[in-house]
Amino acid sequence: MEIFQTVTTRRSIRRFKPDPVPEPLLREILEAARWSPSWGNTQPWEIFIVAGEPLERLRKASRQRFLDGIIPEPDTPMPGVWPEPLKQRYQGVGKKVLTALAIPRGDEEARLRYRGDMFAFFGAPCLLLFCVDGSLAREYAMLDTGAIVQTVCLLAHARGLGSCILAASVSYPALIREIIPIPETKAVIIGVALGFPDKETPVNQFARERANPDEFTRWFQ
Ligand SMILES: Cc1cc2nc3c(=O)[nH]c(=O)nc-3n(C[C@H](O)[C@H](O)[C@H](O)COP(=O)(O)O)c2cc1C
Repeated sequence: MEIFQTVTTRRSIRRFKPDPVPEPLLREILEAARWSPSWGNTQPWEIFIVAGEPLERLRKASRQRFLDGIIPEPDTPMPGVWPEPLKQRYQGVGKKVLTALAIPRGDEEARLRYRGDMFAFFGAPCLLLFCVDGSLAREYAMLDTGAIVQTVCLLAHARGLGSCILAASVSYPALIREIIPIPETKAVIIGVALGFPDKETPVNQFARERANPDEFTRWFQ
């Protein structure tokens, strides 16, 4: 796939086929993704790859924790407030997802079910947990992590896989550590759900929106 096409057609996948991600394919993606840039070539990322039985355990427990109303305690606190126009964009994508899933505004039960699915990684057969050492300057380590996360998502897309970067997936790091031996000294930054996309389903097809470059650029030349 040509790089411009890869970048512009990658989208967050919120329904996956159950087929596992072939290990050689994931290895090929990681082999290329390691060329992502990082501060001083420090490459601070550590990726925990979760699939099969441990993933099923984590999926079930994470969904349950959400449905039980347990307050998320992610290693990176989630922002509570967004200024405009960011708030509108955030709400906009939420509305699009619910519309695509044909969940009406007042249907709290269906909404809860959907959010439960999100905490269950949308049924993806693989979850990549991106971590950094807790001793590192978090801001730059996160910038570096963002670079490799996007690279992995693009490479996955180029190879026919779908991904969804999921803050929801790292809401309960203590639970993650009960199932996956991630040391307390590591911060769990973000999860990426990975698998073959269900291309037919509307939630993977709705039109996405972006600001025009003129809205976020100032030129001085
Ligand atoms: C750091 C980060 C965290 C995200 N967390 C979630 C999440 O918890 N749930 C979700 O459905 N999408 C999540 N997303 C996906 C965004 O909603 C998505 O990237 C955005 O709406 C743009 O849509 P696109 O990826 O389809 O182009 C996250 C994306 C990023 C970059």
